[in-house]
Amino acid sequence: MSEATSRQRILSGMQPTDGSLHLGNYIGALRQWVALQDDFEALYFVADLHSVTVKHDPAVLAERTRRTAAQYLAAGVDPAKSILFVQSHVPEHAQLGWLMQCVTGFGEASRMTQFKDKSTKHGSDGTTVGLFSYPSLQAGDICLYDASLVPVGEDQRQHLELTRNLAERMNSRFGAGTVVVPDAHIVKGGAKIMDLTNPTAKMSKSSSGGKGVVWLMEDAKRAVKAIKGAVTDADETFGVRYDVENKPGISNLLVIFSAITGREIDDIAAEYDGRGYGYLKVDLAEAVAEFIRPFQERAEIYLADPAELDRVLVDGAARAREIAAPVLARVYDRFGLLRPASAGGAR
Ligand code: TRP
Repeated sequence: MSEATSRQRILSGMQPTDGSLHLGNYIGALRQWVALQDDFEALYFVADLHSVTVKHDPAVLAERTRRTAAQYLAAGVDPAKSILFVQSHVPEHAQLGWLMQCVTGFGEASRMTQFKDKSTKHGSDGTTVGLFSYPSLQAGDICLYDASLVPVGEDQRQHLELTRNLAERMNSRFGAGTVVVPDAHIVKGGAKIMDLTNPTAKMSKSSSGGKGVVWLMEDAKRAVKAIKGAVTDADETFGVRYDVENKPGISNLLVIFSAITGREIDDIAAEYDGRGYGYLKVDLAEAVAEFIRPFQERAEIYLADPAELDRVLVDGAARAREIAAPVLARVYDRFGLLRPASAGGAR
């Protein structure tokens, strides 16, 4: 076995939802992707097919897809170590996604909490069949590469459970080894960054109208403002300690501080305890700004040279397809789909 194939394969992706990723995406996912690429055969992609499950603007989607890829690179995803690509560049995603839909029960798809939330938000006319089958497409993404580990945030746990169920079902109906059953790799410690103005909800545009979000691609001054405006917890002591239950706001700031400086949470808490929240916020705001500025500079280098960025993505898609095509062919065979004569004749 060659060095490359003896390593376990991991895969993950994010939707190109906004023009910028936020600190929660970085700390909860991207940072781990970068760490994992040294020890695993890693595939990271921009999940653009998932983004069209809700109404979108075509020109904006194309731009955001590039920007998302540039931010993966800025965070340290290295195309020499990982396979970096755009989901729609590898048509096998849609193909395996279809087979996954055909083994997904209507009932189990109906139970996905993300679907329930989004369909409530978009109403019955805005809720597409694509949104309903979104998790089946995701299961296809994972099984298409025989991935054994999927590093994702806590919010994707249910989709991963579904993927495992679908994979096991495929193997029992169509024979062992039809697909690989993956494991979730839920990132511990800092997996979930909370909204700064609403620290019991995940950091996101929808949880606070964006006020509690630190955007990686926006002016660092906005990040500083967001941190300084973070909701803190009222108690008599103004103690700085990690206590999610009683001090969700302060705990969130400590997690962010630790993640971007590499310092231990307890050390940081000890340094600021008894000095008031203001000191903690000022220093954290500065640390975040120091992180964001060079991050943006790196992303801008790619955005200023779209030809080079596209070259990286074309190369990534070619490498991804080398893995995907034989896996898809195997699953097609197991399903009993007739092999075209041009591809070696009938089964
Ligand atoms: N649904 C994931 C999210 O919103 C994105 C995604 C799509 C994904 N396909 C995937 C993540 C496959 C991991 C593996 O974050």
